[in-house]
Amino acid sequence: MNPPPTAAEIGVIGGSGLYALLDNATEFEVTTPYGAPSDKVTIAEVGGRRVAFLPRHGRDHRFPPHKIPYRANLWALRSLGVRQIVAPCAVGGLRPELGPGTFVVPDQLIDRTSGREQTFYDQGAVHVSFADPYCPAGRAAVLDSAARVNAVDGGTMVVVEGPRFSTRAESRWFTAIGGTIVNMTGHPEAVLARELELCYTAIALVTDLDAGVEGGEAVTHEEVFRVFGENTARLREVLLDAVVKLPAERSCPCKDALAGIKLPIQLP
Ligand code: ADE
Repeated sequence: MNPPPTAAEIGVIGGSGLYALLDNATEFEVTTPYGAPSDKVTIAEVGGRRVAFLPRHGRDHRFPPHKIPYRANLWALRSLGVRQIVAPCAVGGLRPELGPGTFVVPDQLIDRTSGREQTFYDQGAVHVSFADPYCPAGRAAVLDSAARVNAVDGGTMVVVEGPRFSTRAESRWFTAIGGTIVNMTGHPEAVLARELELCYTAIALVTDLDAGVEGGEAVTHEEVFRVFGENTARLREVLLDAVVKLPAERSCPCKDALAGIKLPIQLP
């Protein structure tokens, strides 16, 4: 039996400058108990895998990082059947060697956001492990595909509240505490995915050197969008290759993130 047209197993959440991904896609409006997601979801088959694409900021970029409906976005994807997510994003480099155009597949995250809803569980004792915020199998697949763009394996993404960019002092501090890249959307997306037992893999494209880095100028919005735009074709190639390489059967810890926890909400 064919899957329903709204069913998908893999989700891609597109960042700044990546508002569409799939050819011959069908568009669906999805509702969730957390309100509407950032936009309609488009679904298409890629190499035999059903992939759902959702532009994080909306296709007209109407949601700034601190206003993105993160919970609705993750819930919407899971309700369609998605269990593995690849999440591209624009980042600033916090090390001189991570200049514009560099791809990084991070393995750690530091949350410097404030005031964002970052859990589905506002009642009861649900405390997911988040020591390793990204899926090991997803990272392996993405790294394999991203070898063609010489992606850096590993990095610590500092996620700031924004929407402003960081001061030079903040930026130097992020480097001092171990950050290698900085952005505004990597959290709470990652932890909300974990709370829904979704595999989540980020792929970051460096668009600028952050202000505190040697050689870094004050970051501008224009620069971020220009560099992202210059690299969208390469990113798209990596993503379309990576989704096919994700394991069809999951054996990673993400799928059991809630094991043993009595849930106060019904998962879709
Ligand atoms: N996104 C892209 N570049 C960034 C930077 N330097 N700081 C925060 N978010 C970013």
